[in-house]
Amino acid sequence: MTGLPPSDTEFPAGFLWGTASSSHQAEGNNVDNDWWEWEQQPGHILQGRRSGACNDFWNRYDDDFALLAGLGLNQYRLSIEWSRIEPEEGSVDAGALDHYRRMLEAAHRRGITPWVNLHHFTLPRWFAAKGGFLRQENLVDWHRHVERVARALMPLTGHWHPINEANAYAAGSYLVGEMPPGIRDLGGCLDVLRNTTLMYRDAYQILKSADPKTRVGTIHAFVPIYPADPESEDDRLLAQSFDVLFNDLPLRALRDGLIVLPGREPEAVAGLQGAADFFGANYYASSILDHRRPSQLLPYPPGQTRLTQVGNGVYPEGLRRVLQRVRDAGLGIPLYVTENGIGTDDDRWRIEYLAQHLHQVGLAIADGCDVRGYFHWTSVDNFEWSRGWTAPFGLIGFDPQTFARRPKPSAHFLGGVARQNALRRSDVENYLP
Ligand code: FCB
Repeated sequence: MTGLPPSDTEFPAGFLWGTASSSHQAEGNNVDNDWWEWEQQPGHILQGRRSGACNDFWNRYDDDFALLAGLGLNQYRLSIEWSRIEPEEGSVDAGALDHYRRMLEAAHRRGITPWVNLHHFTLPRWFAAKGGFLRQENLVDWHRHVERVARALMPLTGHWHPINEANAYAAGSYLVGEMPPGIRDLGGCLDVLRNTTLMYRDAYQILKSADPKTRVGTIHAFVPIYPADPESEDDRLLAQSFDVLFNDLPLRALRDGLIVLPGREPEAVAGLQGAADFFGANYYASSILDHRRPSQLLPYPPGQTRLTQVGNGVYPEGLRRVLQRVRDAGLGIPLYVTENGIGTDDDRWRIEYLAQHLHQVGLAIADGCDVRGYFHWTSVDNFEWSRGWTAPFGLIGFDPQTFARRPKPSAHFLGGVARQNALRRSDVENYLP
């Protein structure tokens, strides 16, 4: 194997090990959200294979938790599907709330701590039709929803994140247009970034007033960015603007209480500074921007011949840089890697990717980053948005007819690391298929 980390890594006592997933990608049959509708239209999903029953997590959560706990993992990030709870504006499906309650109870029973996310890219169709988070006045619907979910689920979880990757959501839905509503408008994207920062702050306050002891944090996707030609001012400017828009927003917001967006006046927002009990960083890859092809993220470092099935390169050092960047922002709160993974059919590559990235987490901790846990994306292969079923990220596969789970060697590998709370070079080779 080429990518063996150069040394063993011991993780701090109490380090948390888990996986992350989302409702629309895993549960199946989320027929009342905007994504379901989007998928029905031709050209939106690669190879046209829609989410359908997904991996049937909605019915199989208990067995999945048992399987993951048996492997050695102890945490699980999941999201609550708003469109199940409020399928029509103002009409509440109490059965859906009960179902989520049972899901969280099952996690605890199996020895898994659930982390609850309230927004992972999808919107109820009625809310999307009103303009979703493009319109600040729509936040009243969100407040009602958060209060309701807090009342129903608060005792069953102590870890909340109001939104997953506001930046990837705003960019995918309002700038690149590959997610519903498929808009390509920088102004709209900036408005959504602003409004999702407010919706985060509001949810933080609602959840904390429901229980001051509960822990609420944000989850952000980082894409470290490099100019194609460091000598070109155009490339440098483009990379800087991308960095402000994509990477820097929550750090400035939580540190200084400011919403800073490219080309707009910084906006001071009450209640934003310090509104997080932890910071979740998602990292997959690093990229290059070239002003001659400004809408294309190119893999960093240049010259990589092998790309993942989502077109990413692999740059494990980028994860350490991201963790150092969050540390340097001086928020003074614990940090978690809340997503990291690779879309590939090659499970050997997944093990190599895991080992290399976990090694970088260890280096970041040794360098003073207060990293308390690692969540791999994802547990069971799932629906990868516009890429459909073409990029499996799971540690566990499944039979498309019976949905029976098939743990891959990488699942046993990560479980072994979690059980030992250490990454040993010798183990990496032992687990390779
Ligand atoms: C992240 C998303 C997640 C999944 C992974 C591969 O940006 O949060 O839903 O699509 O990428």
